Amino acid sequence: MQRRDFIKTSCGFCVAVGAGILLGSLASCNQIPIYKTEITNRKITVPITLFDKTDLQIIRPKGYENDIALRKVSDGKYTALLMRCTHADNGLMSSGNNFQCNLHGSTFDKDGGVTKGPAEYPLKRFNTEIKDGQIIITIE
Ligand code: FES
Repeated sequence: MQRRDFIKTSCGFCVAVGAGILLGSLASCNQIPIYKTEITNRKITVPITLFDKTDLQIIRPKGYENDIALRKVSDGKYTALLMRCTHADNGLMSSGNNFQCNLHGSTFDKDGGVTKGPAEYPLKRFNTEIKDGQIIITIE
């Protein structure tokens, strides 16, 4: 094989593999919306309208160490879970119905309960309240 033919064949193969990896990544992307906001006086304010089309919203407060999973349980009732593993403080991933820790494999259900160790304790839960069409999360 000539050098030129080798380069053409190799580059075509790389492009095909790269496109396959990219498409595979996009197909497995988690579609949970992320809401970026700030903490003011230990409170996070989230518009209730964010839950018009979803029951789960990831809250990402600026400068805060972990995301918060805010879930609509029913009309007027929301739960806010800190997405930090209770085993060794690693950040968690969410698939929508549960949370996974990639460090040692713990899993948690959508209410924060441990479904697989080594973690022994449920996820930290923050108080929420509804006020003037806003969900208020109190950070403790
Ligand atoms: S830090 Fe999550 S399982 Fe160890």
